[in-house]
Amino acid sequence: MRVAVISAEAVPYSKTGGLGDVAGALPKALKNIGIDSVLITPCYWQTKGEFLWETAIRDLNVEWRGGIYPAKAFYSEANGSPTFLIDAPSLFHRDSIYGYLEDHERFAFFNKAALVLLRRIGRAPDIVHLNDWHCGFAAVELAERRRWDTFWQRTRTVFSIHNMAYQGAFGLGELWKLGFGSGFARDRFSFDGHASAMKAGLETSDTLSTVSRRYGFEIQTSEYGYGLEWLTRKRADRLIGITNGVDYEVWNPATDPELPANYDINDLSGKRECKRAMLERFSLPIDLERPVLANITRLTAQKGIDLMMQVVGEVLAAGAYIISLGSGEKKYEDFWQSLRDHAPNQVGIYRGYSEPLAHLIEAGADMFMMPSKFEPCGLNQMYSLRYGTVPIVRAVGGLDDTVQNWDAVSQTGNGFKFGPYAADAFLEKIYEALFAYGDKDLWQKIQHNGMSVDNSWENAARKYVSLYRWTLDN
Ligand code: ADP
Ligand code: GLC
Repeated sequence: MRVAVISAEAVPYSKTGGLGDVAGALPKALKNIGIDSVLITPCYWQTKGEFLWETAIRDLNVEWRGGIYPAKAFYSEANGSPTFLIDAPSLFHRDSIYGYLEDHERFAFFNKAALVLLRRIGRAPDIVHLNDWHCGFAAVELAERRRWDTFWQRTRTVFSIHNMAYQGAFGLGELWKLGFGSGFARDRFSFDGHASAMKAGLETSDTLSTVSRRYGFEIQTSEYGYGLEWLTRKRADRLIGITNGVDYEVWNPATDPELPANYDINDLSGKRECKRAMLERFSLPIDLERPVLANITRLTAQKGIDLMMQVVGEVLAAGAYIISLGSGEKKYEDFWQSLRDHAPNQVGIYRGYSEPLAHLIEAGADMFMMPSKFEPCGLNQMYSLRYGTVPIVRAVGGLDDTVQNWDAVSQTGNGFKFGPYAADAFLEKIYEALFAYGDKDLWQKIQHNGMSVDNSWENAARKYVSLYRWTLDN
């Protein structure tokens, strides 16, 4: 079976969030279980030159807006699997990866270029695995082409939803410019008076997946479906939830090169050194007995920052440290800054994006807060489990599937989990966690339960292979 994974971001080439982690790791995991896989992703200005091993195609000519766009493609295996990076400077060499009015054009181009590239490099893949709205364009193009283009006739598409809240909306009038002027394409993109790349992907792909079981059900409800619940419901018989894995080559406290000391489930002493280094890094007084509650995230409403804002006063009053790494909406950035100004001896913040710091915090913190409003899968709670950092999460989406609430009677569970999106419910779990932290043996038991969980990609990759097979047969 030959699989092409197409994604707008992929580690280590680019990353703004979990999609990058997943798209970087899945093709490698597929390759490790014997699947012939190739990853296609854009080459951004942010993509480090060291990852561009060679120029594989100098004349990737893509039909674009009535002419030809002369793109290139680099080759690399920096993520551990064959990768082609589409180089189109005017579209991808920008200050940030997303956030432009013409994002729909940029990714429509990327999709077209990916299909031209697949044609150039050999026989058609059996499966084209598309990710999020950025790849809705390829879903439609392949559905159209399959009717008359023998090259693509046997290819099937799998579309993974990583986040239903981002749908790639734009004006219907733009469709013809992007090469989607046919009646068929227009119908697929049309949604509520505009064009939606997410809707097009959901409607035209052969099968659908999302990144946790629970989110697979949630997106069929009006609370989490963002207006497309009718479509996910309609296609429920071809939709499956597959929980993301963790790349333990990157996220493993026993080998993590970003840490001042390594540790594992049998000897957690290195974690204290990481805590010390982290407190130093944030210029906080070194008191290793005090608990640290941390958070690493994009600062958006999705992540439950509003709940955090409501509880931090009590957390500080309880004597804990709070550390936050993230950037995003100004009101949230301002909030963390003012909290730091208010309690400089207890609060550490880093406003921005830092991979090394994310590793240090995962290792140095005692608890990880993730009170998300919605969370398709979430990766940090899984990283936290492996790093012996106990997650405090809301029971939603992938957080519910991957964190087991601690039960003191049966001594089972690996984190603390609350239900309603409410500050008092969150705070109750924080107090429970702080109380448990006070009992060293008990705390170690919770840490051990988390550290022994196996969320490796191999399991998830095997589920994808079953989905690919099913897609080809049905
Ligand atoms: P989402 O994709 O919704 O942002 P995930 O939990 O799936 O949420 O993945 C987020 C990923 O991005 C994690 O790998 C996390 O460590 C990383 N991340 C988020 N914000 C930052 C930041 N400011 N600095 C470094 N890494 C970050
Ligand atoms: C999205 C989701 C996140 C998920 C990630 C990778 O960004 O918000 O929950 O883990 O995609 O699938």
